[in-house]
Amino acid sequence: KAKAAEGGSKFTFTEVEAGVDQTHHVAEGYDADVLLRWGDGLFPDSPEFDPTKQTPEAQARQFGYNNDYVGFIPIDGSSEHGMLVVNHEYTNEHLMFPGIVTVKDGQAEVAPADQKRVDIEMAAHGGTIVEIRKEGGKWQVVRDGANNRRITATTEMELTGPAAGHDRLKTSADATGKKVSGTVNNCAGGVTPWGTYIMAEENFHGYFLGELPEGNREAENYKRYGVPNGSYEWGRFHDRFDLSKEPNEPNRFGWVVEVDVDDPNSVPKKRTALGRFKHEGADNIVSKDGHVVFYLGDDERFDYVYKFVTAGTYNPDDRAANMDLLDEGTLYVAKFEDDGSMEWLPLTHGEGPLTAENGFESQADVLIETRKAADLLGATPMDRPEDIGPDGNTGRVYVMLTNNTKRKDPNAANPRADNAFGHIVEIAEDGGDFAATKGTWEILVKCGDPSVAEVGATFSTETTKDGWFGMPDNCAIDTDGRLWVSTDGNSPKDTGRTDGLFAVDTDGEARGTSKLFFRVPIGAEMCGPLPTPDLTTFFVAVQHPGDGGEDWEGFGRPSYYEDLSTRWPDFKDDMPVRPSVLAITKQGGGKIGV
Ligand code: FEO
Ligand code: CA
Ligand code: CA
Ligand code: CA
Repeated sequence: KAKAAEGGSKFTFTEVEAGVDQTHHVAEGYDADVLLRWGDGLFPDSPEFDPTKQTPEAQARQFGYNNDYVGFIPIDGSSEHGMLVVNHEYTNEHLMFPGIVTVKDGQAEVAPADQKRVDIEMAAHGGTIVEIRKEGGKWQVVRDGANNRRITATTEMELTGPAAGHDRLKTSADATGKKVSGTVNNCAGGVTPWGTYIMAEENFHGYFLGELPEGNREAENYKRYGVPNGSYEWGRFHDRFDLSKEPNEPNRFGWVVEVDVDDPNSVPKKRTALGRFKHEGADNIVSKDGHVVFYLGDDERFDYVYKFVTAGTYNPDDRAANMDLLDEGTLYVAKFEDDGSMEWLPLTHGEGPLTAENGFESQADVLIETRKAADLLGATPMDRPEDIGPDGNTGRVYVMLTNNTKRKDPNAANPRADNAFGHIVEIAEDGGDFAATKGTWEILVKCGDPSVAEVGATFSTETTKDGWFGMPDNCAIDTDGRLWVSTDGNSPKDTGRTDGLFAVDTDGEARGTSKLFFRVPIGAEMCGPLPTPDLTTFFVAVQHPGDGGEDWEGFGRPSYYEDLSTRWPDFKDDMPVRPSVLAITKQGGGKIGV
């Protein structure tokens, strides 16, 4: 175990006590105010939220479901006025629609969807772009903000970059292979230095059903991505989600989407140069010589860590000059050696095994089947790569590996078999250059309860019974170089605690010390945080509150935590649980965490 001296931590806040109950908890001396709930109006004409009378049209004018990534794009450099961008990853039908769950023989059953329900679900996906302003110390939504916008599963988008227009992307609705309807399962994301919003498409396989026509060339491709999966019933009402009718549609998802938030009519771009996989996030940073480097996780057991380096350089004086930087560059996949070195292997057509003999006729094929290309290059299969955060102060990069209970064969970078709690890998890019193709790595922390010897957790000895965590998912390195980690999957049943936001020391004697700053209500996952540039506000997202613990008659399946079920954040009998974004500020003002 790493040693940490008393007082060596960068964080001096009083820790929250770990536990589980109906509501959220923030460290003493801080406020956590609800800013936006599922269903809240975003425009002057948005209908009032009424969960019993919801329509697709109303939902498209309201804040969507299951807020995940939160970004803040300052207006004129302000930390008190800006555009908030929020991904709406997916929908929980059993928590959204009254009366659709019945219980037979103790088993909960969700009624089949009708078209209206499906269209509400599609309108609740995507993202929100909304102006916000701090007034009298409290954040407010500016409902008549000129650039407020909802993006949904039906917003028109353009495919750009090396795979755009390829035959494998053409459908009966789009003979050009360049025009797509909407985005789905946008998990984490990013904001670029030129102020665009990046939405990463993660588990797109869940939206497709039906069978590929006999002998279709995509069979092997789709198998590698788990398509179809049929979690959603959209394909019963919209042919494009049915493989038997539109065999190429799944190739149009699994990309990184870039949105210009300065123009509410801009067409979002799916940037194919960044590869096609289950993109967790797209945190990014400018390298020493001006290239922009995107760190990309593919969240599946035994999948890979990637980065993309733009061919061009960032121009801080000319926003327009940066708007297509993401169409040209090199996509790399990581190989972690057991001796603590690592290499970034380029996914470039014609190099190594990425040739016609292996089915890659062009760079488009390499990108459409990114996973297969990375398999052939011998990349290191990881324990579910989630968010990846670069630290501009040190040239280090933090990789959240959430868990992998199927791992039987540990290696140095994934050192535990049956890895239930995950770990964090710290990469040091050669020369502190984010565009480098080599680096070194070490494990910052193996997660889990340090008091249980078999778990093998390696938090510092200063970490308290409240401060340890499992299942790291999102991360942020703030402008002070402080690491914040959000978790997903800490089960109250197994550990007596919910997910939360943790402050983690990375330097000096306190390295490996973790402290609990905020925790979510029962059933929820923690997403974010996103600090304002001055570090006085942290925006966090509480996703799927009450999942597995709800009891609102007609809305949910029976709770297995009946005494702890919740209707957060309204706590009203006629309101369901509502995923929400919160703004955390210090009472009396000042920097968060100290
Ligand atoms: Fe949507 Fe990888 O979490
Ligand atoms: Ca999530
Ligand atoms: Ca995630
Ligand atoms: Ca996760």
